[in-house]
Amino acid sequence: MIYADLKGKRVLVTGSSSGIGAATAVMFAKQGCFVGVHYFRTKEGGEKTLADVQKHGRGCLLKADMRDEEQVREMMSQYVKEAGGLDVLVNNAGTLLGRVDIEGMSIEHFNDEFATNVRSAFLGAREGLEYLKQSRGCIVNIGSIAGHHGGGPGGGVYAAAKAAVHTLTIAMAKEFSKYGIRVNSVLPGLIETRFHEKFSSAERRKAVAKETPLGRNGTAEDVAKAILFLSSNDAAGFITGEYLAVNGGLYMRA
Ligand SMILES: NC(=O)c1ccc[n+]([C@@H]2O[C@H](COP(=O)([O-])OP(=O)(O)OC[C@H]3O[C@@H](n4cnc5c(N)ncnc54)[C@H](OP(=O)(O)O)[C@@H]3O)[C@@H](O)[C@H]2O)c1
Repeated sequence: MIYADLKGKRVLVTGSSSGIGAATAVMFAKQGCFVGVHYFRTKEGGEKTLADVQKHGRGCLLKADMRDEEQVREMMSQYVKEAGGLDVLVNNAGTLLGRVDIEGMSIEHFNDEFATNVRSAFLGAREGLEYLKQSRGCIVNIGSIAGHHGGGPGGGVYAAAKAAVHTLTIAMAKEFSKYGIRVNSVLPGLIETRFHEKFSSAERRKAVAKETPLGRNGTAEDVAKAILFLSSNDAAGFITGEYLAVNGGLYMRA
């Protein structure tokens, strides 16, 4: 799969030390992009992704806690120094912090779920905006099927945070359209990554695959393909404020 217009683009993929972000970083590298590989806690994962990126093209390694304003600002300026600008920002960093019911959830846990999944995307976009204005670039935020259905057991606040990412995407799309910047989101269903290895039993993952109309769970590459589609102006140049669900039909809307 080649989108010719992505060749030479400067792309930053947050949370690319693992899973969906790692697959996305490598897929962009295969298009001839300069790829910023970002990690927070999993340095060896970031180094592995960068090595995979460098098999196809150029890139650099960046570290930041995406919840932290200063760290995100520094990461962005380091990236732009190395890449010479920014054309595509993928706000992928995020996670479920644990299966915790709303009943009895601490305020710290609640706040951290929103900081990890919503503030991270807000900061990425705000700090990247100046550079995206110059390139008339685009943003892809990663939401979740959970943002539609309220999440699995103990995932309710994570689901609410992802729903906020969906709405933030629309708000950004409206506000940034005057700069020629498109903003969309991708909503994965159950994707087989570290995320579900950590939080869902093998039985539950099997049960979800059975329930899924296309008969399987997703791969990180399934999601990466949707991210690339939305990033390509040739493919998606008239699409903004939209979301693309990648869930094998597990959740459909009219
Ligand atoms: N897997 C699924 O079924 C699924 C479904 C819907 C949505 N999603 C979303 O897809 C995205 C990627 O998830 P994944 O499945 O690929 O999970 P993953 O393999 O666990 O990757 C999560 C990534 O997010 C980064 N991250 C987490 N907290 C961070 C923080 N505070 N600051 C900076 N980076 C942080 C991690 O970096 P370090 O490890 O380096 O700290 C890692 O690179 C997430 O936003 C997730 O919510 C996943």
